[in-house]
Amino acid sequence: MIQEPLWTGLGLVGALNARVSGGIAREASGVSIDTRTLQRGDLFLAIKGDVHDGHDFVRAAHDKGAAAAVVDEAHARDFPDAGPLYVVKDVQAALERLGAYARARSGAYVAAITGSVGKTSTKDMARVVFSRFGATHASAASYNNHWGVPLSLARMHAATRYGLFELGMNHAGEIAALVEQVKPHVAVVTRVAAVHLENFPNIEGIADAKAEIFGGLVGGGVAIVNRDDETYERLARAAVASPAAHVFTFGQHESSDARLISYEMQGDAGVGEARIFGRRIDFLVHAPGVHMAQNALAVLLVAHVFDLDLDQAAAALEEFTPSVGRGRREQLAIAGGEITLIDESYNANPTSMRAAFELLKAAPVGPGGRRIAVLGDMLELGPHSGEMHAELGEDLARAGVDLLFTAGPNMARAHYAAPESMRAEHRSTATELEEPVLASLRPGDVVMVKGSNGSRMGAIVKAMREKSSSSANAS
Ligand SMILES: Nc1ncnc2c1ncn2[C@@H]1O[C@H](COP(=O)(O)OP(=O)(O)OP(=O)(O)O)[C@@H](O)[C@H]1O
Ligand SMILES: [Mg+2]
Repeated sequence: MIQEPLWTGLGLVGALNARVSGGIAREASGVSIDTRTLQRGDLFLAIKGDVHDGHDFVRAAHDKGAAAAVVDEAHARDFPDAGPLYVVKDVQAALERLGAYARARSGAYVAAITGSVGKTSTKDMARVVFSRFGATHASAASYNNHWGVPLSLARMHAATRYGLFELGMNHAGEIAALVEQVKPHVAVVTRVAAVHLENFPNIEGIADAKAEIFGGLVGGGVAIVNRDDETYERLARAAVASPAAHVFTFGQHESSDARLISYEMQGDAGVGEARIFGRRIDFLVHAPGVHMAQNALAVLLVAHVFDLDLDQAAAALEEFTPSVGRGRREQLAIAGGEITLIDESYNANPTSMRAAFELLKAAPVGPGGRRIAVLGDMLELGPHSGEMHAELGEDLARAGVDLLFTAGPNMARAHYAAPESMRAEHRSTATELEEPVLASLRPGDVVMVKGSNGSRMGAIVKAMREKSSSSANAS
């Protein structure tokens, strides 16, 4: 089999619209904007971020074996003898040109995924499913912004059969600009929720910004929306007014095209029965929660649009495991037995918090065990942040949580709003909460840790794992 390079050195000249200096690269096997993760053979683009200017790392990139670096005219003379350089007027614009070129040369089926929550989970489920059917390329991690999207496009091989891209936004207009680059055949809005409210007057404003994704569909494409979403009508109206030829829906609502008929937890997996355009499909996802089943339905709808066999697609779903901090479950040894850890430390907003409480409620506890919630601040919620934290008190009570640990100035509101019998400890930071949480653990406990990434609840998860491996070594 001939293995074509991602980019040939000559091909890059035109795609970047660059002039060459210091010799020409033979080929590039990858594209990078960060020397910490750069691989030998990658093309390095010196992008200016909020903190760093990539031009300060061009030498490091060449030292790590970069095939070439893309720099701007102002810095063209700063790197004599460093290695091949592509010189452009503006590196960000060159990255976007490279992404556009990759998209234009591609014959792939392309799907774009946005939403307030569930983008990465849905994209990663789709990656697992479509890999079963052909060469699949998907955005790395949550690379969903003005550099993440063109970078993900630029990394798409010409031979890719399925391309999956995550699109995110903080402001109106951003999704429109990103989807313009992706030109998807299918556009999915996973779920609209009160996230990033600081830049929007209300949830309708968020729905409108997410719905921009439909405007970038290629003619005859398909819009996919969550039928259970509170802003469903608004999203569907926007989809109908877009270039989409069809609007398909998923959810529990009886009129959903992909409808979740039943769902139950079996161990750490969710087992669902769906009806997709009238056809019964059974599936299992190793990621508990109805929200994950909903993401799975969105993926199956995309598979349907791409004309794939749905039974095979549903079977492939079983290979999905959620990535770090998004609901992954593990058993940890502690003195005298085991606890179950539900790691949700990557991300939090009121919607995903409630979904996580449901997970905790449904998780079986061992003899003598308790349901423990360890919560850090939900960030970027805007002016109503205080109320949104306080409202969690009732949800915690409904979820039958036995013990509540909280960290951060915002989560203090949840601490005081929760029933007194549930309140364990509150501390101002995650670091300070580590010790009381570890000290309280008993065999049989189920512990769910959740907060926005910036609240650093991941450190508590790490401490639990470390304590567990040291206690496992000692016994
Ligand atoms: N459909 C959903 N509804 C509610 N919560 C969800 C849904 N899908 C995933 N979640 C939860 O939301 C959190 C974030 O999930 P995920 O990383 O998939 O979202 P994202 O939209 O990619 O987030 P980001 O904006 O950080 O990239 C996780 O805790 C996950 O369990
Ligand atoms: Mg994401």
